[in-house]
Amino acid sequence: MLERGTTRRHWAAASAAGTLLALAGTVGCQTAAHGGRGGAEIDRAGRDRVERLLSEMTLEEKVGQMMQLTLQTVSSQPGLADQEHQLNEAEARRLIVEYGTGSILNNYDVAFDPAYWREIVGTLQQLATEETRLGIPLIYGIDSVHGANYVNGATIFPHNLTLAATWNPELARTAGEITAAETRSVGLTWNFAPVCDIARMPTWSRTFETFGEDPYLAGVLAAATIEGMQGDDLSAPTAVAATGKHFLGYSVPRTGRDRTPAYISDSEMAEIFIPPFEMAFDVGVRTVMVNSGEVNGVPVHADPRILTELLRDDMGFEGVVVTDWADIDKLVNYHKVAPNEKEATYLAVTAGIDVAMTPLTTSFADLLVELVEEGRIRESRIDESVRRILSLKEELGLFESQIPSRRDRAEIGSTASNAASLEAARQGITLLRNGGSLPLGDGTRILVTGPTSDSKVALHGSWSYSWQGTDERLYPPSDTVLDAVRERFGSGNVVHVPGVEYEEAIDIDAAVRAARGVDVVLLCLGELPAVEKPGDFGSLMMSAPQVELAQALAATGKPVILSLVTNRPRILSEFESDLDSILWLGHAGPHGGTALAEILAGDVNPSGRLPFSYPRHPNALLTYDHKHSERVGADSSTPNGYDPLFQFGFGIGYSEIGYSGLRVRELAGGGVNVTVSVRNSGDRDAAEVVQVYVTDAVSSVTPRVKRLKAFERTEIAAGASDRVGFVLPRDAFMTVDRDGNAVFEPGEFVISVGGLTETIVLD
Ligand code: BGC
Repeated sequence: MLERGTTRRHWAAASAAGTLLALAGTVGCQTAAHGGRGGAEIDRAGRDRVERLLSEMTLEEKVGQMMQLTLQTVSSQPGLADQEHQLNEAEARRLIVEYGTGSILNNYDVAFDPAYWREIVGTLQQLATEETRLGIPLIYGIDSVHGANYVNGATIFPHNLTLAATWNPELARTAGEITAAETRSVGLTWNFAPVCDIARMPTWSRTFETFGEDPYLAGVLAAATIEGMQGDDLSAPTAVAATGKHFLGYSVPRTGRDRTPAYISDSEMAEIFIPPFEMAFDVGVRTVMVNSGEVNGVPVHADPRILTELLRDDMGFEGVVVTDWADIDKLVNYHKVAPNEKEATYLAVTAGIDVAMTPLTTSFADLLVELVEEGRIRESRIDESVRRILSLKEELGLFESQIPSRRDRAEIGSTASNAASLEAARQGITLLRNGGSLPLGDGTRILVTGPTSDSKVALHGSWSYSWQGTDERLYPPSDTVLDAVRERFGSGNVVHVPGVEYEEAIDIDAAVRAARGVDVVLLCLGELPAVEKPGDFGSLMMSAPQVELAQALAATGKPVILSLVTNRPRILSEFESDLDSILWLGHAGPHGGTALAEILAGDVNPSGRLPFSYPRHPNALLTYDHKHSERVGADSSTPNGYDPLFQFGFGIGYSEIGYSGLRVRELAGGGVNVTVSVRNSGDRDAAEVVQVYVTDAVSSVTPRVKRLKAFERTEIAAGASDRVGFVLPRDAFMTVDRDGNAVFEPGEFVISVGGLTETIVLD
């Protein structure tokens, strides 16, 4: 355990490590610095208004601003999918006018139409701006995590893990822009996205929400998303305040289950978990949401070391910090670090939160008033939070207008926006094996089978029209895999037999019979979308009925093409060697079926690259940047080493891509220039993701076998070559010591790109 007096030094160094990783990527991925560290950028008049309000506010009005309630609290009935929503105006008036609640969040379990959203937000805002003493507008928060997924008719994108497989920050930026514009157009101005957690525990139910296992790739994509969402002017009718979540160390619960303890060393925190947040802060993300779990024995909501010393003092974050759902209450009832809610409130506020997503009760406000009146919390501490919250409202332009006017509103679900979603699916779907069947010629007869073959729910994933996303009735029309394959190959060539459900056999024999009459089988496996606690489970193995279906179909001798639509990598070891081809889709969104059909037909040359290591065995869940000692004993027959089924960064297309002429050269100032030639010797245009890894040959702490330091997605015409260049700054060669300090240790470094390596000595 670190000495308290030494923590600041450690974390200060840790944030430097984050910066260095951010710097390493400035080539080829445009993470332009924003200048701010999350503090609202408001002019003199705005600052004056905030200070004037603060000076006029009562203590009750101040703590009201720090409280965020869910829409259910101002609704007539608790939200249920089958109940029609109705605002409870009396309760809304009590909570907003009497209690001075500053923020509302969430939907009513299911998505609303845009007009209805505007009506509700309008009514609530009217109460806040016209009936409260000071007329402070509300800020409304929502989880638009892959498009405005709680607005009917909005553009839905692939989930982040599939977006990450594109390795294309421009697509992430576009998705961010469209998501923000469609979210804001109904009056929702605070988006709880993007996830900046790093997926290093594949059993974790939120793996699909992340940008994968590598901090640099995730940071680049999160930063681009944030830039897209926030734009240049937060008051624009197309911008929302983004949220880096969940700070910090949420994604590696030791049990693999959501919101269970994580144990993370200072060094690992600095090298793996802090960098994406650093990169988010570099582009000015305005808000941060706290990790609901505990790290090293302390719930993060009660940890001043993480929420104040690291986040504020060392990383310099000046924006708004919001709790996760009911997390003050969880300090009492779940984590057991506080005997009652009052002590929990004390812990969370002194740890550093600004807004409490209570989200069902007002006791937070009552207790915080008591704590201040008793002198346990200074009013100046409350002022700090309220100043941040009011400044954000000011910067969002909420004092002027709460809902974009008809003239300023973004078009929801436009053709162009859906084309961007389709493009993201095309670039994100990852071809992992091609045994020779792909692409399929016109006229190929195809059996489409499996539980994800005819399911909109599967393609979309959770956070789609409802939290878990599993209610197919809520979905607007869109093509399933089956629909799209029928459209592309002709209904007459396509047979559909479901075969199995996720956990139950339906008629495997029927699928086998059907397979005998076709040329290829498109086997659509996966798992039912589920997220957070409902997504916890005990085994990463693909479910038994699906394994049985796969084995039975492979036994027919027909080529089996596997399409994987899962929340996380499910283990395929019981049948994968018998498959002809494998495609990973993740949750590719409403256009995932179309994109898959285009790839199967060869209309699109697949270019996705895995943003995570696809495990071969349930007990071998190493990430690509493991330590050397972790691969001792590795060979294809042992599950010990790094022997994943498919490596991080892997993916193939229909063109042969070759690398040659890797050159590395030290630059004046200590950076390293890396150039390499990439040739497309195929007869189709292709996109290749050039990935630059650095290995520190020897260092004082055990080095990782390699670390991604730069990448670029490049389009190469059939038969053409491209020379791609990168400048790796000195910081890309630093190591993070056991205390989290970034240090440069002179010596030998190996640079690897596309299977080529060069060694350079730096001193
Ligand atoms: C999730 C957050 C989400 C929040 C609000 C929580 O359960 O952990 O990611 O933003 O709910 O819906």
